[in-house]
Amino acid sequence: MKILSIITEKGGVGKTTTSIHLGASFSEMGYKVLQIDFDAQRNLSMGYRIDRDYPYTIKNFLDKTGDFRLTQKKDNLFILAGDRNIEKDKYSRYELKERIDFLNSKMNLDFVIIDCPPRPLTGGVGLGEMALSCSDYVISPIEAEMYSIEGINELFPSIQRIIKEHNNKLKFLGFFFNKVLTNTRNFREYTEKANSQARNYFLTSFIRQDVNVENAKKEGKTIFQVAPHSRASLDFNELATEILKEINI
Ligand SMILES: Nc1ncnc2c1ncn2[C@@H]1O[C@H](COP(=O)(O)OP(=O)(O)O)[C@@H](O)[C@H]1O
Ligand SMILES: [Mg+2]
Repeated sequence: MKILSIITEKGGVGKTTTSIHLGASFSEMGYKVLQIDFDAQRNLSMGYRIDRDYPYTIKNFLDKTGDFRLTQKKDNLFILAGDRNIEKDKYSRYELKERIDFLNSKMNLDFVIIDCPPRPLTGGVGLGEMALSCSDYVISPIEAEMYSIEGINELFPSIQRIIKEHNNKLKFLGFFFNKVLTNTRNFREYTEKANSQARNYFLTSFIRQDVNVENAKKEGKTIFQVAPHSRASLDFNELATEILKEINI
């Protein structure tokens, strides 16, 4: 089992969209995948049309109160629903890890994908710290936009700190551009900068901006189902393939 976290400190960049599509892509390739909605906004669960009051959530899972259930989407694709109150309780750093290990002993998973909330990683045991403390890999979407790029300078040192202090098996696979408009000066400028100054910290795949992403979301489906030949559909598959290559699975 490999655990992959998707994180940014900023919202609206594409964490949830990427979680959903990597999950779909990996499961399509035959891997057994669990996606965890680790954000109180519950966007991943909403994407899968899981009811707001659905009782079997990540919170129950961590609290060990009674039963927990996964939502099964396909033979090999499972969702652990989010919870609006997930941030109300304090958990210890490795609690998520212990629970995932327990679950995996019964399920024998290939991938766990954790959709993290947009919060600064400040050193306290927040959800992002818990996710990264239990992960094998982490990726981070960015936009070719100044604040998003500057966010790198906040996020990257925090990830390095977590690797050093709490989880030396965690590997940062890289940033990748999302919502890309390929023919813009900004995108060219930022990719050139990324290539010349931080090549090792960027994945080569990027996801183009595509209205089908929103259309798919509206239908509660993935872009692979709604528009399999669209730009973002091709790009998400390419990202999934690059990640598999990186982690040598
Ligand atoms: N490649 C893309 N093309 C077009 N819209 C996108 C793309 N990726 C994400 N979006 C849209 O951007 C918004 C934010 O994406 P989301 O995945 O929810 O971000 P986050 O989880 O980081 O807050 C959503 O409305 C989503 O549909
Ligand atoms: Mg999100």
